[in-house]
Amino acid sequence: MGAIVVVGLQWGDEGKGKITDLLASHAAAVVRYQGGHNAGHTIVVGGASFALQLVPSGVLYPGVVPIIGNGVVVDPRVLIDELSALEARGVDTSALVVSGNAHLVMPYHHELDRLTERYLGKSQLGTTKRGIGPAYADKAARIGLRVQDLLDEKIFRAKLDVALREKNLVLAKGYNRLPIDPERVVADYLGTYAPLLAPRIVDSVRLIQRLWREGRTILLEGAQATFLDLDHGTYPFVTSSNPTAGGACSGSGLGPRQIGEVIGVAKAYTTRVGAGPFPTELSGSIAETLVSRGHEFGTNTGRRRRTGWLDLVMLRHAVEINSVSEVALTKLDVLDPLEEIRVCVAYDVDGERLEELPYHQSVLHRARPIYETLPGWRRSIAAITRAGDLPGPVRRLVELIESRVEVPIRWVGVGPNRSQVVELQGS
Ligand code: IMP
Repeated sequence: MGAIVVVGLQWGDEGKGKITDLLASHAAAVVRYQGGHNAGHTIVVGGASFALQLVPSGVLYPGVVPIIGNGVVVDPRVLIDELSALEARGVDTSALVVSGNAHLVMPYHHELDRLTERYLGKSQLGTTKRGIGPAYADKAARIGLRVQDLLDEKIFRAKLDVALREKNLVLAKGYNRLPIDPERVVADYLGTYAPLLAPRIVDSVRLIQRLWREGRTILLEGAQATFLDLDHGTYPFVTSSNPTAGGACSGSGLGPRQIGEVIGVAKAYTTRVGAGPFPTELSGSIAETLVSRGHEFGTNTGRRRRTGWLDLVMLRHAVEINSVSEVALTKLDVLDPLEEIRVCVAYDVDGERLEELPYHQSVLHRARPIYETLPGWRRSIAAITRAGDLPGPVRRLVELIESRVEVPIRWVGVGPNRSQVVELQGS
């Protein structure tokens, strides 16, 4: 049995956490493979809402091993706080483990994320300011500290010393800031965090490979999404890791032939947080409806999300590069009151019709959406549980999407609760 990747097909916040959570009941492990606490997953169970940042969604199921994979960047303080908050609400987190090869988010990463954003002025990316970009930059520059370094004071101090030599120079000379005191970092990371996290630090690749060999179901949970991917997203308005399905292999230690399915999650409309191109972006009353009905404010930063119509040019591209096998279409109920629903099927660029996503950013910035307009259903679909009960216009929308992206839509989301997902076809 191959592992299952759950990947976002737009700019994030598609409801991946909910779909992972739905599939997790049959899984042995849920692995986060990239990103850090820039992510925010909300899962609603029986009216209780759980906002997760670093902890994989499967944590809510007893018997599932939640694994923070090697591709993630971990802020240990955030992880410890999140675990304590879950424990306080009665969730048993004892099974959660962290890859010793995951990188650590350090205090200077936070500071540099804030400072570099500020100095970009008008060209700001709108990052979450969680230190994620600087942490991945240090990983690539080979001056990052890893989770395993928490287990060895000598190595931790030596690596911190190398990193701080450069960081303190940049902070002091470049930004006129006070240097970071290594002793404070050692006190926090080794004195406070290491003893709490040490029992959870593992060789995650061995663990994941063993589970795979035993034929157990492994879910690989992406954070962020396709168009925030460092390589495939709308660069530079992207995150610093690879949320696309390819990143699931490097971020977990599973090989491509060990992946069986890729489930792509897309909202029935589009949102994005932060700067960057967005061809189908809306303003006015429809945008207000989407924001208010969809609660389109960041789980993590509280920022209002930009909203727009569903973009099938982007979705088709995302399905291709992730080799998506099935789609989960979420938040359909948000569209309930709309009289008509628009779906972007191509772009107009300087009078020319483009069916495929232009690789060149300036072209994407000029792309004007060409829409197909479908009737709305104008009733609540929140209580529907069977595919046959979905209104005709919902089925028309599903058919239009399937005809363009050429993979089946297996689930549609009709509300925020764990149970509000309608399965359109069996596996
Ligand atoms: P960073 O990941 O904090 O460096 O932010 C880079 C870009 O990714 C910004 O536009 C963020 O708003 C966006 N971003 C990062 N994480 C998420 C997420 O979980 N959902 C949506 N957007 C995100």
